[in-house]
Formats: sequence, C-alpha cells, structure tokens
Amino acid sequence: MNSKWQRINHMPPLPLYPGEPRVTAGAAHIALAREAAAEGMVLLKNEERTLPLDPAAPLAVFGKAQADYVKGGGGSGDVTTAYSRSLLGALEGWNLCAPLSAYYAGYVKEQYAQGVAPGLVAEPPLDDALLAQARAYADTALVTLCRYSSEGADRTALPHDGDFYLSEAEEAMVSKVLAAFDRVVVVLNTGGMMDTSWCRASDSVKAVLLAWQGGIEGGGAMADVLCGRVCPSGRLSDTFAENFDAYPSSEGFGDSIHYVEYHEDIFVGYRYFETIPGAAQKVCYPFGFGLSYTTFAMEDMACAPAGDALRVTLFVRNTGDVAGRQVVQIYGEAPQGKLGKPARVLIGFAKTRTLAPGEREAVIIDCPVRGLASFDDTGAVCRSAWVLEAGDYHVHVGENVRDARPLDFCLHLEEDRVVERCASRCAPQHLTRRMRADGSYEALPMDRSDEPLPYDPSVLPFDGQTPEDCPWTGGLHMWGAKDELPMLIDVAEGRMTLDAFLDSLTLEQQIHLLGGQPNRGIANTFGFGNLPRAGVPNVMTADGPAGLRIQPHLGVCTTAFPCATLLACTWDEALVERVGRAAAEEVRENGIGVWLAPAMNIHRSPLCGRNFEYYSEDPLLAGHMASAMVRGVQSMGVAACIKHFACNNREENRRNCDSRLSERALREIYLRGFELCVKAAHPWSLMTAYNPINGVRASENTDLLTGILREEWGFDGVVTTDWYTYGEQHREVAAGNDIKMGCGMPAHTLARVQDGTLDPALVRQSARRVLELCLRLA
Ligand code: BGC
Repeated sequence: MNSKWQRINHMPPLPLYPGEPRVTAGAAHIALAREAAAEGMVLLKNEERTLPLDPAAPLAVFGKAQADYVKGGGGSGDVTTAYSRSLLGALEGWNLCAPLSAYYAGYVKEQYAQGVAPGLVAEPPLDDALLAQARAYADTALVTLCRYSSEGADRTALPHDGDFYLSEAEEAMVSKVLAAFDRVVVVLNTGGMMDTSWCRASDSVKAVLLAWQGGIEGGGAMADVLCGRVCPSGRLSDTFAENFDAYPSSEGFGDSIHYVEYHEDIFVGYRYFETIPGAAQKVCYPFGFGLSYTTFAMEDMACAPAGDALRVTLFVRNTGDVAGRQVVQIYGEAPQGKLGKPARVLIGFAKTRTLAPGEREAVIIDCPVRGLASFDDTGAVCRSAWVLEAGDYHVHVGENVRDARPLDFCLHLEEDRVVERCASRCAPQHLTRRMRADGSYEALPMDRSDEPLPYDPSVLPFDGQTPEDCPWTGGLHMWGAKDELPMLIDVAEGRMTLDAFLDSLTLEQQIHLLGGQPNRGIANTFGFGNLPRAGVPNVMTADGPAGLRIQPHLGVCTTAFPCATLLACTWDEALVERVGRAAAEEVRENGIGVWLAPAMNIHRSPLCGRNFEYYSEDPLLAGHMASAMVRGVQSMGVAACIKHFACNNREENRRNCDSRLSERALREIYLRGFELCVKAAHPWSLMTAYNPINGVRASENTDLLTGILREEWGFDGVVTTDWYTYGEQHREVAAGNDIKMGCGMPAHTLARVQDGTLDPALVRQSARRVLELCLRLA
C-alpha cells in the first residue's frame, strides 16, 4: 500500500515500482543519460566529412583525457556513480593504436592511484618515438582534452593555465600532433567554455566535437557521435568567442573581492556580439551554432500575429543523406527606440523529430510578443514598466543567431506600448556605468564603494552546523499517533483546514518549521518540516542538478545525467523533461522529497566555476530548459527547487560578493529565465542565492522575494536560503524567505518576534507555506 509520505517517513529500501527492479542507476536511466548526452554534444567543425569515423579504420588517440573522463562538475553538483565511461572505455573494438592508448591509460591509472581526482590529472609529455609509431599506424588522429571545475571556486583564463586556455603541456601535445597529422579530430570534455580559436584556425584540425560533461555514459555518447550511430544535433547555448578578453564581462570580473559590476548591462553573450560595433568578428562559434552529418532546408516560412504571440510556420526538410534533427531558432529584432536594443533576441525555438533523408516536418512556433519587450528603468518611455517601443519589429529564422534571416513580416507599432507596469525594485546603489547599444557607456550618478556588506558571524549558524532534532517528539505511540491531537494528515485528507492546524501549533513550533532539520537515512543536505508530534514529516532534500547526489560513503550509487549546459545544447524540452522525471524517480525511490535542482543562473562570464550547473547565456533558453526539468521532476510528486535566485555569477567570496547591475539587466537577463519558469512550470520551491544584489542579500531581499517573485509573478511555493547564508533569519523571513538552511536560528528568531522586530504573522505565513509544500508531496 502506498500511503501519503510513506517513502518520506520511512525510506523503505524498496523499488519504486512494485515487482520491478530499483530504478536508481538502473539500465533505463543509464540509457537515457547516454541518449541525452549524445543529443547535446555540439559538432563545431567537420571539414571533408572527416566525421563520422569508421571504427575499423586505424585511429591514433592522443591526450590523457581519453582515459581521464570528467562526467560532471564538482561540489554539490557532483553525483556518486558506480562507474563512469571514458571515451577510451567506449572505443572497445575500434582499430586504435594500442601502445598510444595504453600509455595514456596507464598514466591516468597511476595518477588516480596517487589520489589525483578525475579531470585534475596533468597532461603527460608525448614521446617522439610514440608519436612516430602512432603516425605510422594511422592517418587520423583524435586529440582529447578535458576540464574540471567546481562549486566554490572560479575558473581562470591566463595564458597556458590549462583552464580556459590550454596548458603548456597540452599545447606541446597538440602542436606535435598537428605537425605530424593533417587529419585531426578534437574532442573537448568540458563543463564550460574553452578556447576553441586554435581549432578553428588550424587546417589540420578537420573536426571538433564539443562533448561537454556527459554524465555516467558520456564516453559512450562521444563514441556514438564519432562513429555516426547518432547524428549530432546539439547547438551552442553560449557564444564561443575567439578569446577570453572578447567577453565584455571579462573586464572587472575579479577586480574587487566585495563586488562585481555588470557594466555590459543587457549585452550579455550574443546580445553583445551581434549588436555592439566591432564585436561580431570576435566570435569563433556563434550562439545556436552546431553542425550535423546531414543538411536541412527551411521552406515556406511565414509569420503572422496569433493572439499575444507571433506564429512562425515553416517546413524543415532533410536535404542530406543521413537521418538527423534540426533546431529552428527564432530571433526578434526590436526598433532601437529610446532605450536601445540588442540586435537579436531569441524569442522561440523548436527541435524536429529525426527526419529521414528527404523527409520534411511542419514546424509551428508561437513566440510571445512580450519576448520583444524591454524593461524601462529610466523612464524614457514609462518608468519601471515592460514596454514595446513604437517602430518596426522583425523576425529572423535560422539555424543559429548568425545564420538567421529576416522573414517577410513586420510588426509595426504606431505608438509606444506599455505591456506591464511594475515597480522599481532592487535598484542599484553603486553601479558606475553601463553599456549602451552603440558600445559606449552611460555614466550613472552613483558612488563607487568597495565596502563589504556587514554580517554578524557570532549569531549565525556556522557552515556545516547540524540542525538540532525536534524537541516536540512526545505523544507518539509505538503504533502511530492514537491521541486526539491534530495531525497534518487530517489536513491532507480533508478533515481539517490548514488554518485550524496552524492554530494548534505554538509560535516556537512554527519557527521550528522555518529551519533545516537533521538528516535521516541517506540524506546529506538536511530536511525541513519535522514535527512528529503533529505528524509533519521530516522531508529530506538532496542535490542536484545532474542527478540525485548521495555521499560516496553511503554506498548508494545513482545516475549521473549530463551537465546542465549539455542539456541546454539539446534544445529539446521533451528530452529534458524525461531526464527530470527520471532523476525524480531516483529521488523518490530513495525517500527524498525535495530535489535541489534545476540550477538556472545565466552564463555571464566563462569564469563562473558553476557554469556547468547552469544552462545558457540566454534567459529564454534557460527558462524553457528549467521549465521542462521542473515539469518532469514534479510529475513524480517530488518538489523541484529552482536555484540560485539570482545573480550567482561568481564563486569567489560567493556569500558576500555584491552583484551590481541595473534594474533593466536584472529584469531582462538575470530574472527573465526564473520568471518564465515560475509562470510556466510552477516550481514548488526556490533557493535564494548567497550573494547580495545591489547591496541587499538575496535571502533578505524583500523587493526580490515578495515584490517580484510573489506579487508580480505569483509564485506560491516555498523559498529556502542556500546553505549557511550570511543573512539573519528574522530578516530573511521578513523578506519572504521561508526556510533557513542548513540550520535555522530558532532562539534568535524567537527573540526577534518577542522584541517586536519580526511580525509573528510573517512566521505563520512562512510556516503555512512549508506545510503547503509538505501537502504537495506524494
Ligand atoms: C550550494 C547549493 C546546494 C547546497 C546543498 C550549497 O553550497 O550552493 O547549490 O544545493 O549547498 O548542498
């Protein structure tokens, strides 16, 4: 019998579906991880149809990354798996230059034995004799490179640093291979952007596969694409520029430990490269780009208004000779007007099914007109409103942002139109300048300040502090509750209202509901709820976002799905929804109620150490991917927890680094994906970011959490902090942040109610939301 909260309360080690094997790390999920990985890998270059490779043809594989496979990023985004398949592990049966691969495999094994972690193994020297042997064996070389990054630290972009750029040892290996071979395929196993300019420039590099970090079976998926078992259909979710300095966010990224100024304003990613004079030529591979083993034509394209949207219709035909999938991308172009606009903004997309050669599919994409609106933060048209300025709006369709061509359609607005009136919220205090559409900067009349935001460590739970157990455990009988006291199940089963139930709780009990609860079973990120006396379950949380994360020593292995950036590059919402559902099946099977995923911050800079957990530089793509993930997760009765709200774009000093940006950039770029997801997919919970935004901590930010999230967008779920913020709980609750994780501050918070600082009605409101979340869980 499956009673409510059965798994949450008792964590039975039973298969989710009676009579079947456990789904956790089962064959079906591992196959899905492999399928998804292959769908999101991006073919950046393929001259002379070098790919697909014939496994029977001799091949020389260079680089330690063939054996040193990085399945995903580190920190809370890591996943404990029974194994992970490297490329070399998947090339069994291929005609490889055996001594060459044996050299790399042996070296990596030795490094692992010495405790070096995957992805952190240095590139070993390539011996000339071995190179000559490989050259004599094969005409085609495959060069492998990998990158690791983790929560808590940013990446680097210094010459020869082995991160954004190649290390000296990698450069040495690559240049030897390029000198010896004129048919070279490069495979990049990375969670974030890397320098690809050398790949594009070299005549010897014939093909480049951006394989990302593909989860447990990433190596298998690489092999699937390399040999043509899968026709590549991934498209970039970020712009790959010719070097690090080409990104406007690079300037000033690490200047201050205390803050980052978002000078480029709304001109993030392709919005910069496609708009700002002189920037276009700095692009190596544009946003949305990706090759296929076949070719496509877009036919009979048309656009017409349809309610609040522009409806784009077309046919996609496979004009090549193998089956494949195409991604149709729609970009809007708004008039420059008074505010200035990006030259292109993604307003819709769709991916076809697999089309056989000659086959065509009708595609219909509705692009909400609201996607063309701008947020006016100066009052040029209407202050603090989403506006459509008077003028001509064009629609461009294509297979990437560069290739998109205008349709024979124009939406002409005679007058400026206010789409939605909002309020001024989260206004910047210390932002000195921001970029305009012509590349010049507009000075903003504000003080420059390098002051850290104060916080009081003496009252805060320390990082890693374990929540105390519930003091109200009495009254429970061995065979379950037998007394007449109200139990939450009475609300769940309609015998009592939630308000009557809340009336039965003391203020202390309500405050208890607002803090993290001790781990049970295999959980390691704590729970919430936990009033056994009143039948409130202790609902465990778990990370996210690449799969259910259980600490290695517990011995429960799960499925590592591909990193979020790879998933975004699939541009396939149905597939991402399936991944979300599969991950949530594992979460549920293991008795956990809240999955701390998806993570959906914007890729502002290639250096953010957590970019692998995030989707894209574009908010529409990020918002759609997160929505698909949330739908999949919540279809299992598990709560998704979208994070980190908002502007978590740097890891250094992440708990106290102020993100300084205009209201316009905040609304159009950094909040837009969250807005789309909240409105479309109704996530049951959301995690605030560590960082302050314009001088106010995200978790203590009333404008953000109450003004924008709840009042404007209608979010009706629970807001939790990230783990061990520097915010004080009474201010967090007052701002609309319901739960403090990993630990609450019950005594401190009670004192703030008693001294009149915190309104008890706000405590009750947050407690109510926590209980509502419990009621939503299966
Ligand atoms: C991370 C969150 C994560 C939490 C729990 C924090 O350090 O920022 O993304 O969900 O830990 O592990």
